[in-house]
Amino acid sequence: KCRFRTLRWAWRLGYLSAIAGVAYIGYGIYEDRHPEPQSEPDPTKKTLVILGTGWGSVSLLKRLDTENYNVIVISPRNYFLFTPLLPSCTTGTIEHRSIMEPIRTILRSKKGSARFYEAEASSIDPDRKVVRIFDNSEIKGDMTETEVPYDMLVVGVGAENATFGIPGVREHSCFLKEIGDAQRIRKRIMDCVETAAFKDQSPEEIERLMHMVVVGGGPTGVEFAGELQDFFEEDIKKLVPEISDRFRVTLIEALPNVLPSFSKQLIEYTESTFKEEKINIHTKTMVKKVTDKTVEAVATRPDGTQETIVFPYGLLVWATGNAVRPVVQDLMSRIPAQKNSRRGLAVNEYLVVQGARDIWAVGDCAVAGYAPTAQVASQEGNFLARLFNNMARTEALESKITELSGSLNLQPGNTAEISREIEEYERQLRRIKDVKPFHYSHQGSLAYIGSEKAVADVTWFNGNVAAAGGLTYLFWRSAYISMCFSTRNRLLVINDWLKSKLFGRDLSRE
Ligand code: FAD
Ligand code: NAI
Repeated sequence: KCRFRTLRWAWRLGYLSAIAGVAYIGYGIYEDRHPEPQSEPDPTKKTLVILGTGWGSVSLLKRLDTENYNVIVISPRNYFLFTPLLPSCTTGTIEHRSIMEPIRTILRSKKGSARFYEAEASSIDPDRKVVRIFDNSEIKGDMTETEVPYDMLVVGVGAENATFGIPGVREHSCFLKEIGDAQRIRKRIMDCVETAAFKDQSPEEIERLMHMVVVGGGPTGVEFAGELQDFFEEDIKKLVPEISDRFRVTLIEALPNVLPSFSKQLIEYTESTFKEEKINIHTKTMVKKVTDKTVEAVATRPDGTQETIVFPYGLLVWATGNAVRPVVQDLMSRIPAQKNSRRGLAVNEYLVVQGARDIWAVGDCAVAGYAPTAQVASQEGNFLARLFNNMARTEALESKITELSGSLNLQPGNTAEISREIEEYERQLRRIKDVKPFHYSHQGSLAYIGSEKAVADVTWFNGNVAAAGGLTYLFWRSAYISMCFSTRNRLLVINDWLKSKLFGRDLSRE
């Protein structure tokens, strides 16, 4: 009887928590859909300009108390992109809109004045404290270029694709950094397949068209190769069987192994899984030239001699890491203290750009001694939000103290009370001013390698745990679901996963 009563209570509790959960989510959605009106820019507040809508800038925005500043966000992209799931968009496992969050939605939920300009920053003048911006979108108005003055500036423009000046790369390959890149790849995979299936296509041409080459064995190249092989095994093979035995994926990497930043056992696991999945890996092979149909690479043999290999391809995806954006290069050239920095804006432990006043940098465009990852960029953004919130509170407390000190002589009767108030404010000020420098806390690295397997180097109680396989894949999925920007994104991603599992990926070419 007692057990029965406990069960009944547990059931009631579960029922109430479910109602509370639904009500909480419902209220969140209602609040998002009915934001409070925002105020006009306040001339007494400082103007904080944030460049970029990526991991660094959006993490800053999310936690920033925007009531303290007139905030202006500038980016050619009017949305935040959840990059960890971008490789899944190339094959349609996930639809691109599921991992995008409009910046307007994010800004409308903020208080105070928070504006957005869809534009690219072309240069920053640190002496005049202005950013030059231009409209690079298709539709242009009479005004296409202007200047935005700032009191404080955060540079979070990320990085561009590295090509190392290798001839033919820009003209003939696809990159994998933006939504447009993933859409281009998805279109091109299906174009290759349909062209290979064209009537009377020669066997050599089918061979070339069905050869998908990936250059760069870092996490981007590995995850894309895995997704591509899944797409082929689970969908293309079944729906276009006549050419299925010609499909090949080749991964070319200049270093002796793929995933150089992961632990040795995970590298071995990835390489052996790729072998099982029939993905060809060419390590110690450096691409030197690209044409519209071939990739030319120099491979170093085990005896140290070199040979040139020519790979005919249908699709070429170039994933060889990051390069500095022109706007960042331009800023670096204007600041003498940046002259020795090569990979981006050198920043100090408070993410202040060295040699500049009132300029901070976050993410892939900043050199703070960490890898260019979303994890680092978002922690840096969170840190700057704390720093700026503290700075605003400090200023408010300081002006209160000045005001109260001034009134001490005017209200002799209240001296003791005012002094107590000043003391309290001074105590708060000391606590706020004690901001510790930025410290990155590494939570681990995860990568999907295809066939529902993932690898993970996770930090666990100050130690490192390396895990790989099917369970790690479930961990990978749940980790990324929890990291998605919004509830909307989470629901859409789960829906996409279910949809592609139940009905297969969509093979239509847009
Ligand atoms: P970004 O997120 O790249 O954002 C830069 C922003 O600046 C964009 O909004 C862009 O439009 C804007 N911008 C560009 N030029 C200008 C300009 N001139 N003026 C104004 N704005 C400009 N990291 C992980 O930790 N885990 C992962 O699983 C992971 N997976 C990844 C998968 C892929 C396919 C890729 C490409 C990267 C992945 N990364 C991952 C790395 C991660 O995405 C980056 O480190 C992260 O995006 C860097 O954040 P950021 O804010 O510096 O730049
Ligand atoms: P990367 O810099 O990590 O790897 C690029 C690879 O290309 C290198 O291994 C390099 O040796 C190789 N390469 C360079 N030139 C070459 C050439 N000419 N021929 C053949 N190979 C060549 O770049 P990636 O993968 O784009 O990643 C960029 C950043 O984003 C990294 O910091 C990475 O950790 C992060 N990222 C993290 C992911 C994850 O955690 N799952 C997923 C994707 C990216």
